[in-house]
Amino acid sequence: MISISRLAAAAAMVVAAGGGVANAAYSIATTQDIKQTAATVAWDLLQYYKGNLTGQTPGILPGPPPAGDYYWWEAGAMWGTLIDYWKLTGDDSYNKIITQALLWQVGPDKDYMPPNVTASLGNDDQGFWGMSAMLAAENNFPDPPEDQPQWLALAQAVFNTQASPDRHDATCNGGLRWQIPWSNNGYNYKNSIANGCFFNLGARLARYTENATYAMWAEKTWDWMTSVKLMDEKYNIYDGGHVEANCTDINRAQFSYNNGVFLLGAAYMYNYTNGSDLWRTRLEGLVDSTLNVFFPNNTAYEVACEEHMSCTTDMLSFKGYVHRWMATATQVAPIIAPKVLPVLRNSAEAAIATCKGEANGRTCGFKWSTRAYDGSHGAGQQMNVLGAVSSLLIGQARPPVTNSTGGTSKGDPNAGTHSDNFKNEREPPTVGDKAGAGILTIAILASVIGTSVWMSTGI
Ligand SMILES: *[C@@H]1O[C@H](CO)[C@@H](O)[C@H](O)[C@H]1NC(C)=O
Ligand SMILES: *[C@@H]1O[C@H](CO)[C@@H](O)[C@H](O)[C@H]1NC(C)=O
Ligand SMILES: *[C@@H]1O[C@H](CO)[C@@H](O)[C@H](O)[C@H]1NC(C)=O
Ligand SMILES: *[C@@H]1O[C@H](CO)[C@@H](O)[C@H](O)[C@H]1NC(C)=O
Ligand SMILES: *[C@@H]1O[C@H](CO)[C@@H](O)[C@H](O)[C@H]1NC(C)=O
Ligand SMILES: *[C@@H]1O[C@H](CO)[C@@H](O)[C@H](O)[C@H]1NC(C)=O
Ligand SMILES: *[C@@H]1O[C@H](CO)[C@@H](O)[C@H](O)[C@H]1NC(C)=O
Ligand SMILES: *[C@@H]1O[C@H](CO)[C@@H](O)[C@H](O)[C@H]1NC(C)=O
Repeated sequence: MISISRLAAAAAMVVAAGGGVANAAYSIATTQDIKQTAATVAWDLLQYYKGNLTGQTPGILPGPPPAGDYYWWEAGAMWGTLIDYWKLTGDDSYNKIITQALLWQVGPDKDYMPPNVTASLGNDDQGFWGMSAMLAAENNFPDPPEDQPQWLALAQAVFNTQASPDRHDATCNGGLRWQIPWSNNGYNYKNSIANGCFFNLGARLARYTENATYAMWAEKTWDWMTSVKLMDEKYNIYDGGHVEANCTDINRAQFSYNNGVFLLGAAYMYNYTNGSDLWRTRLEGLVDSTLNVFFPNNTAYEVACEEHMSCTTDMLSFKGYVHRWMATATQVAPIIAPKVLPVLRNSAEAAIATCKGEANGRTCGFKWSTRAYDGSHGAGQQMNVLGAVSSLLIGQARPPVTNSTGGTSKGDPNAGTHSDNFKNEREPPTVGDKAGAGILTIAILASVIGTSVWMSTGI
């Protein structure tokens, strides 16, 4: 992880060296310029990937901490960024390593829960890999060989493991927890990103397959988010709350990826419902709140951490997802395009102004609003700029396909339903366990009660 003190030192050096002159090597003036700039930024992003080198693990970025800077989920997000890069620019240079990566990490039950990452496996982590598989299906990214898991089935597997009663206990009246194994730190936290990934996948699977069950889960998840006030009436989205407090102790930090993941899901629900008023209102509300909170001066800004540069490695990658997701949202909900696209363009101009050229170590920075290199660098910074630049080509790209509009990926509605899903981990704590044992007992009891409520209401 990049330490804050190192960042501050680097930033001071840049100022001293007169950094901040716009770099002519990065241009978005024409389609050709956009493709060239995206190619440069993509190449520099891939320099952080070591998974295709001898002795390294395919699919992951160096990590998880302390072994390297990056948690497992971020590589899943990176493959999605690169699928969009291919879709938008046509450059297939990285398609082979994208495919290898997405297949290597599926895990024994083909549901993106590989045992190596159990110790920090959250529903959001699994969800990011699932959303990248979904993206592959939606864009007819080359299908894997027939004896390998298929993109759509992988997305369905992630969805099904998350829709399982095991993951939806009655604490806080429903919703997904952050972590999956009960022994992980953060199992007692229910948060917006875990539920946002599930909502997003549900909405997209509904549109792709026209199976109403997915849409029902998306509705249910939205309703839960608003009922516990993780999303307020002004469409602000807060980070999460603890089950011990019935999710009333809401951590009010706002992160841009929460808005982005719900905004794209809402756009898909709008499309799936043939432009319903309900989803139009929700989508437009999210667009307004996202632009208000995260795009001051029409430039992406990670409000919770950017001012003092206290962003974690994870947070340094959120802007790129937001750009990509808002861009894709304009394909399935063209009504928002006039409001969204000009902001994304202005923000992308600011983004490239943080990149510096060959002479002193080519890289892009993070503080886009300064329109100058800020001394930071990393896979997140590269992904952000890549997402912003390549998304400028959204108007020329084919909208996401569905099973009935040319989608070729083979699905399996039952994928993931026989997954281990950590059932064996769900043993009650032994008498000797002290810390949190009472809470855990309540959680497990509540989960049993939750299951019967779930079944008796036929949801
Ligand atoms: C790994 O991928 C990178 C980026 O595509 C490429 O530059 C490098 O040559 C590849 N290495 C191997 C051993 O395939
Ligand atoms: C799990 O870790 C081992 C040891 O580092 C590695 O060989 C293997 O490829 C990893 N599996 C996955 C799915 O990443
Ligand atoms: C629709 O999705 C649900 C949930 O995954 C699944 O149980 C059901 O079999 C699907 N229906 C069809 C017709 O594929
Ligand atoms: C928990 O909060 C929900 C609203 O989200 C409320 O309906 C429920 O009564 C609360 N439960 C307890 C035990 O306070
Ligand atoms: C959307 O319209 C299509 C075609 O008229 C129809 O088949 C479908 O059921 C509609 N979807 C919803 C969710 O109303
Ligand atoms: C749904 O998405 C398609 C693109 O696949 C688009 O042509 C259509 O206009 C969208 N529907 C609505 C209601 O915006
Ligand atoms: C937006 O622009 C105003 C006026 O130039 C400036 O004072 C403010 O700091 C800017 N906000 C951000 C987040 O950069
Ligand atoms: C998807 O389309 C194919 C033919 O194009 C059809 O055979 C299959 O039943 C469809 N699947 C679903 C879930 O609608």
